[in-house]
Amino acid sequence: MKVGVLTGGGDCPGLNAVIRAVSRRLFARGHDVVGIREGWRGLVDARFEPLGPREVSGLLPRGGTILGTSRTNPYRVDGGVDAVLEHFRSEALDALVAIGGEDTLGVGARLYAEHGFPVVGVPKTIDNDLSATDYTFGFDTAVFICTEAIDRLHTTAESHNRVMVVEVMGRHTGWIAVMSGIAGGADMILIPEQPVSIEDACKEIRHRHDRGKDFSIVVVSEGYELEGVADEGDVDEFGHVRLSERGVGAQLASQIEQQTGFETRVTVLGHVQRGGSPTPRDRVLATRYGLKAADLVHDGSFGRMAALHGDRIVDVSLEEATAELKRVPDDWFEVARAFFG
Ligand code: F6P
Repeated sequence: MKVGVLTGGGDCPGLNAVIRAVSRRLFARGHDVVGIREGWRGLVDARFEPLGPREVSGLLPRGGTILGTSRTNPYRVDGGVDAVLEHFRSEALDALVAIGGEDTLGVGARLYAEHGFPVVGVPKTIDNDLSATDYTFGFDTAVFICTEAIDRLHTTAESHNRVMVVEVMGRHTGWIAVMSGIAGGADMILIPEQPVSIEDACKEIRHRHDRGKDFSIVVVSEGYELEGVADEGDVDEFGHVRLSERGVGAQLASQIEQQTGFETRVTVLGHVQRGGSPTPRDRVLATRYGLKAADLVHDGSFGRMAALHGDRIVDVSLEEATAELKRVPDDWFEVARAFFG
């Protein structure tokens, strides 16, 4: 078989590790691999590059993606889907491994449902918001980076008696905030799934200070719904507004300072969370996903996605994986809440 590989959506630590694992397993089974440049855009515009053993060597620890990525949605480009199908045929591809999150894999699911397109998915995103898998690769690295940042911010918070607000990514779910907040010992965590009001958050901070602590760490997810903060601005081809533009961290910090009288500062971690080398856990997960995806292709099991259930790598339908977002359940938030105030 001749198998295409693409990486779509935001870049994420571990993408290259998946490309390596998919390719190595496919080579071992006698197949050829072709890289598709910049996600679905590469199939719309016919931008291919052969991937051989040399190209996929040394990739395991490398951040970003050697194939480039984009948020191109062929369903939003004039003639985009026809171009994808045509270029897939003209390049004589037999199968596609799509590495991405809900958007990239959503396109794959739709192409499979509508055209029987031979695609297999690999769940990528630092947000960990994809259904049907316990964890996406990239998430662990993002949580590691945020936890380290929270640890560092603790020292300034303590030295200056300040409230430090840390804004993390995660889009419309609070996985990164909750996990890094628990790991970093946050005194308050605000996420989209839990409608804790600013008043209640300030009450907890005051309570903490009343019992002798004169600093606090507040982790807020970029998608937290703050009154008066609108979802407006540029929208990408999948209909997402750029949440970082809302400036939730800055608004929150100013409201905390106003309501509590405590000196407050904000740190927005931004794209640092997606950068650099994957953690060992993400390298291993990406590798296992890559091998599974190659096996699914080899077996002709299309419309499927590699997934993690407990400690086992399994496969699930792309449709199930992209039907809805996986939100932070209450019991995870309860773990965090036990340390508020
Ligand atoms: O989905 C990954 C993610 O980093 C989100 O957490 C964030 O909202 C978004 O991508 C940022 O997108 P961009 O890199 O296009 O600004």
